[in-house]
Amino acid sequence: MTSNEIRSTFLAFMKERGHTVVPSASLVPENDPSVLFTTAGMQPLVPYLMGQPHPSGSRRITNSQKCVRTNDIEEVGDNTHLTFFEMLGNWSLGDYFKKEALEWSFELLTSQEHGFGLDPRRLYVTVFEGNEDAPRDKEAYQIWSDIFTRAGLDPATRIFFMDAEANWWSPGDNGPCGPDSEMFYDVSGKHTEGLTHDAFLQADDAQEVIEIWNDVFMEYEKKDGTIIGKLANQNVDTGSGLERVVGVVQGKDNVYDTDLFARIMAVARTITPALRSQRILSDHLRASVFLIADGVTPSNTDQGYILRRLLRRAILHTESRSMTRETIVAFVDAVIDTYQDAYPEVPDQRSHIIDTIEEELITKFSATLRKGLREFDRMTKETVALSGTDVFTLFSTFGFPLEMTTEVAEERGIAVDTQGFHEEMKKHQEHSRVGSEQKFKGGLADTSEATTRLHTAHHLLLKALQQVLGKHVHQRGSNITADRLRIDFSHPEKVTAEQLHEVERIVNEKIAQNLPVVRSSMPKDEAETLGAEHEFGAKYPDHVSVYSIGPKEASESTPHFSDAFSIEFCGGPHAEHTGELGHFSIKKEEASSAGVRRIKATLR
Ligand code: SER
Repeated sequence: MTSNEIRSTFLAFMKERGHTVVPSASLVPENDPSVLFTTAGMQPLVPYLMGQPHPSGSRRITNSQKCVRTNDIEEVGDNTHLTFFEMLGNWSLGDYFKKEALEWSFELLTSQEHGFGLDPRRLYVTVFEGNEDAPRDKEAYQIWSDIFTRAGLDPATRIFFMDAEANWWSPGDNGPCGPDSEMFYDVSGKHTEGLTHDAFLQADDAQEVIEIWNDVFMEYEKKDGTIIGKLANQNVDTGSGLERVVGVVQGKDNVYDTDLFARIMAVARTITPALRSQRILSDHLRASVFLIADGVTPSNTDQGYILRRLLRRAILHTESRSMTRETIVAFVDAVIDTYQDAYPEVPDQRSHIIDTIEEELITKFSATLRKGLREFDRMTKETVALSGTDVFTLFSTFGFPLEMTTEVAEERGIAVDTQGFHEEMKKHQEHSRVGSEQKFKGGLADTSEATTRLHTAHHLLLKALQQVLGKHVHQRGSNITADRLRIDFSHPEKVTAEQLHEVERIVNEKIAQNLPVVRSSMPKDEAETLGAEHEFGAKYPDHVSVYSIGPKEASESTPHFSDAFSIEFCGGPHAEHTGELGHFSIKKEEASSAGVRRIKATLR
């Protein structure tokens, strides 16, 4: 099946079951200033999920929604991450509920006649195990159990109960939310015989099974991060990432090998031989075309800044660090050709899109890039570190953004004092610009619960790395989002599988011990004497805050530093006890720059 057939099969299937097909809303949310982009199919439907009648008069809605998410921009280039993607969705606004939603999901995924014809023996599902907010979802379990039994498969090896971290979905701190049921497909082809719960988790960690569909039973309401009760209606919000579904239906192990990217990747191949760069170029240009078509123009704030960043980042991945009008035209036409059936409004904007990219990349940016790189070379001629002031000069005098500096520096194994840069920035009181820069700054992406827990796990991880690999290990960079943590650290060689395993074991042991996390504040010298860990190259004030983890009896009044497992210079925030963290696992270990390794890890 082609991607166009997959999209239209989904919509036709839902239409036959009484859904009104609505067009994709804009990538720029119309009435929601709290988010920059539409990041999920349900987002434009929030008022209707909250009870307002839908303008179509229908209580069953379906579409393929354009979405943009940039929190994982650095993962783009691997097999599955994208900044722009489409989400296939069907919604019940107080109409059908769990039974229909789950039966239809299964039927559409597996039917040979009017669905995607996927092998049911490669399907696995999760359901919500229950907590203080809502009971265990026995109903969803029973429905799945009947479905798998009918298909001749043992439900006990197919359906797994999971906690709220995995199986509770809400668009943010406010609005509709509820337990969900996720469907996973075995892309390895190794797991047709069923799995135990543990084996399923391992297969998920190894990306042997990947999530392709999510049915959310939205009957609860969240306010300021707390679930305050039930909504008037029982709603269903189902979402399925088109690119991933196309990947599994077309039997590919990565989204770039699907027909959605065939034309676009063909253009990318003409401008760089590096596969990861081809993928980044394809992703970023595709996203840019759709953003411009939805009215975004490059600027230094909000949506415009993200577009500028995507375009400028793309150019860094061309071999010549430049782009001609011809290349731009080739990219834009490849995107338009691929999407003209699904999004016929995009071709109307062809020349506006081409001109916008040309002005940003050729008229405005090539000169900036050339001058900035020249200055960068000059600054790093006799040193392998860039100070905060240097980075700030590159930014303020040469218009060279921080991310650009860190990206080039990473490639060349040069350390960058980003903290010093931010201090300089503050001094110069460039408030509006700081706002945009922070959307991509290192460190913590936000202070949500999930990010905070990962932040605490980050401290445990650094200490465990030092115990397993040696005292030479120090932090060289860090980035934490709600989904994963990333740490860069000094170590001269690849970390072996056994070492990674041991590091994971130590971190999970410390989590199981439920150690207290204690904040203290003290003069910088005193913290240094305690041996508190700090980031290389970072500048700290004379009085610092320090977080220590353990021992069991530690508290703010009596921190027991000498028996602590970890002590770090840090501004927080952190979990109160390690027991809140969940199961820690390392997803990836790779080189970051010369003598620096990078680990990505998650909690679930
Ligand atoms: N809102 C859910 C998601 O984004 C399902 O559509 O996963």
